[in-house]
Amino acid sequence: MATLLELSQQGDVGTITDESKLANVKLMTPQQLYELWERQPWSAHAIDLERDKADWAGFDDDVRSHLAWNLSSFFIGEERVTTQFSGLVRAYETQSEEAYLTTQQVDEARHAQHFNRFYEQVLGIDGTFEDRLTRARSDVSPAFTELFDGHLVDAQDRLLADPSDVEAKVDFVVTYHMVIEGTLALTGQFFIQDFLEKRGILPGCLEGFQKISQDEHRHVAYGTWFLQQKASDPALRSRIQAKLAELIPIATGVLVPPGVEDPFNYEILGYHSSEAHQFAFTALSRRLKVIGVSLGDEAVAA
Ligand SMILES: [Fe+2]
Ligand SMILES: [Fe+2]
Repeated sequence: MATLLELSQQGDVGTITDESKLANVKLMTPQQLYELWERQPWSAHAIDLERDKADWAGFDDDVRSHLAWNLSSFFIGEERVTTQFSGLVRAYETQSEEAYLTTQQVDEARHAQHFNRFYEQVLGIDGTFEDRLTRARSDVSPAFTELFDGHLVDAQDRLLADPSDVEAKVDFVVTYHMVIEGTLALTGQFFIQDFLEKRGILPGCLEGFQKISQDEHRHVAYGTWFLQQKASDPALRSRIQAKLAELIPIATGVLVPPGVEDPFNYEILGYHSSEAHQFAFTALSRRLKVIGVSLGDEAVAA
């Protein structure tokens, strides 16, 4: 018998460690995900950053530069996913889906507000929100730009041109929910939270990441539900696979910090690249199993 996911998992099958449960899992619907959002409010501006300011001032240059690189990817990423989301809101198919999608867009705006505030108050970068985004832009890699300014923007443009285009909607959700949120954001958040927790540093930054991850799992749950619905059509199922095969190699490049020669053999903040790849692909494969799509060997090897 199918079982509904536990609320502690935010409806995200990527967190299910007992994989025998994947076959019979019942995904949360957009209506249930909307109601879950109502029960989980939080305020970016209520997070206390005083200890973070003192911690940041005491870090050595190496820790500061690795953390800044990581945080810039999140800051720019949250700005991109906020401003490139309207096309999906317009592509709703039911009132419940529309209600859920509007909550996701406001979540992304809140995430960007959190990082803007952190850059201003902890990193001490003055000026406007836009000035801080420009500063963070100097840290991100060509692979990041290709995914967030190329593929994501193109996917939204196609959806804005025709919100009833189901192929464009599938491409958008694969790019946004499966690759950007499910594979990249949740992986980066897991390792940075672990790093901060183990050292007992930057408590405001950690609290922000914990709240953001809670939201992101809910977002990925919507993407998994949507793609599961569409994957019953063989042509759309193939389309999901092809889009993943195209984007996963680019996503692998987004995780690589600057100055690294071998993208499959590096360390960041004390974690080996293989740990991040393993975490990302395990969660992605669980979601794809539930959607009913297999990840080709080619994509996994990349
Ligand atoms: Fe977000
Ligand atoms: Fe998100």
